Amino acid sequence: MYTKIDGKQVSQAVRARIAEETASLKSKGIEPGLAVIIVGNDPASRVYVNNKKKACEQTGINSFEYAMAEDTSTEELISLIEKLNNDKRVSGILCQLPVPKQIDEERVLNAISPDKDVDGFHPVNCGRLMTGCAKFAPCTPAGMVEMLKYYNIPIAGKHCVIIGRSNIVGKPMAMLMLANNATVTVCHSKTDNLPEITKQADILVAAVGKPKFVTAEMVKDGAVVLDVGINRMENGKLCGDVDFDAVCEKTSYITPVPGGVGPMTITMLLQNTLTAASDEN
Ligand code: GUN
Repeated sequence: MYTKIDGKQVSQAVRARIAEETASLKSKGIEPGLAVIIVGNDPASRVYVNNKKKACEQTGINSFEYAMAEDTSTEELISLIEKLNNDKRVSGILCQLPVPKQIDEERVLNAISPDKDVDGFHPVNCGRLMTGCAKFAPCTPAGMVEMLKYYNIPIAGKHCVIIGRSNIVGKPMAMLMLANNATVTVCHSKTDNLPEITKQADILVAAVGKPKFVTAEMVKDGAVVLDVGINRMENGKLCGDVDFDAVCEKTSYITPVPGGVGPMTITMLLQNTLTAASDEN
């Protein structure tokens, strides 16, 4: 028997606490505010940005949307970010990724003030995470750790195998799990003998971007499996990077897609916005 980790339930519990903390900050005259920048017309980005704004509303956090045209230049985007860096109403700034091709993403992320970088993507915040003193941990990995803690799943001493080495998920997840005293292995597309390594995982994180990539042969009996993938199938349904139906019976805990890791990502963004608002005052 396995337990399906309910990301919506964990998310609701954390958001209730965030709403209380927001109300408490407001009673002291501090108004947390999140600026969300979206460049261009990517439909998936539009859905994510709308969900972020809705989550802010639900918890009492102010949100400000800045929608920019598809042909926006790096300079125009940086000039908006500099304005927001100096805007007292704005505690946190997020630029939805991916940005259109002509934009230099690295310059844009570096332009966000590290004190308002609620995504945790600025090199200063990556460095803080690496040295074990994160101010803003990237939201998706932070959400996964929060879920493990909610279900009292032990992390210390466990072998966590992460498939995927992105700056947004794989690498920061490795740092967070290390900070929680796990033993960490990071695998990627060039890893030899991948199933041999994933079979050693007590906690297996799939952040590959390939539907049903993780099969039953890759999973140890009793493992905890966290699925970061959001893939759209031909029939229009969403599926993760894990073949859920084939893998679930081997696990002790597993996240579904949708309703697993996804809801937690936005919740941690709200948490980081509160941290930014508290720290600036
Ligand atoms: N695009 C996909 N995931 C993310 C995220 O966590 N933050 C931002 N800014 N863009 C994303």
